[in-house]
Amino acid sequence: MSHETWTTVDRYIADQFIPHDEAFDAALKDSDAAGLPAIAVSTAQGKWLHLLARAIGARRILEIGTLGGFSGIWPARALPPDGRLITLEISAKHAEVARRNFARAGVADRAEVVVGPGLETLPALAGPFDLIFIDADKQGYADYFPHAVRLSRPGTLIVADNVVRNGAVADAASTDEMVKGIQRFNAVVAADRRVTTTVLQTVGAKGYDGFAVILVERP
Ligand code: DHB
Ligand code: MG
Repeated sequence: MSHETWTTVDRYIADQFIPHDEAFDAALKDSDAAGLPAIAVSTAQGKWLHLLARAIGARRILEIGTLGGFSGIWPARALPPDGRLITLEISAKHAEVARRNFARAGVADRAEVVVGPGLETLPALAGPFDLIFIDADKQGYADYFPHAVRLSRPGTLIVADNVVRNGAVADAASTDEMVKGIQRFNAVVAADRRVTTTVLQTVGAKGYDGFAVILVERP
């Protein structure tokens, strides 16, 4: 199967199951216009984050890596009116785009963008969060993970994007810094007795990659 087929099927899935919503189109369009890289989660993946948040009744959600806010809108829309999405972003420019996108999507009252390097903003946060989505610089994942666990309660789900990297994650000899960052993350998670984990491989418009799904048993 080719990337073209995966993209066609992603479009089919969105057409079948995900009602068209101008706020998402506008979020991607404005992100693109502002020069942000086109690496947000796909629509089908965003809907999955939304369903996950609803299934676990999430009231507090943490995202590490806001980008233009596209991925954040999905779980934010699963929150009750008094729920909260806190999303961390290193770039002030990205954060500004994301705030506009949150406002247009009607979640500005529930979604807060915190600007700064994750390793500087994470220590100031207080948990617990019900759902934590890691989707930032791959070299940083292994260092974000202990913070994510600290900000969890028993039963918190941590989801991490991009943990397969077109299969390169299984190549121990890879010299790609992003791949090596993900390998370090996977090894740290695998060795942590406080969590239980699987990885789901994914294909779609974003190519071949995967999500780590990590259940925190004991923070
Ligand atoms: C890439 C994809 C992502 O989803 C991401 O968060 C970062 C980078 C990429 O394909 O390069
Ligand atoms: Mg990603």
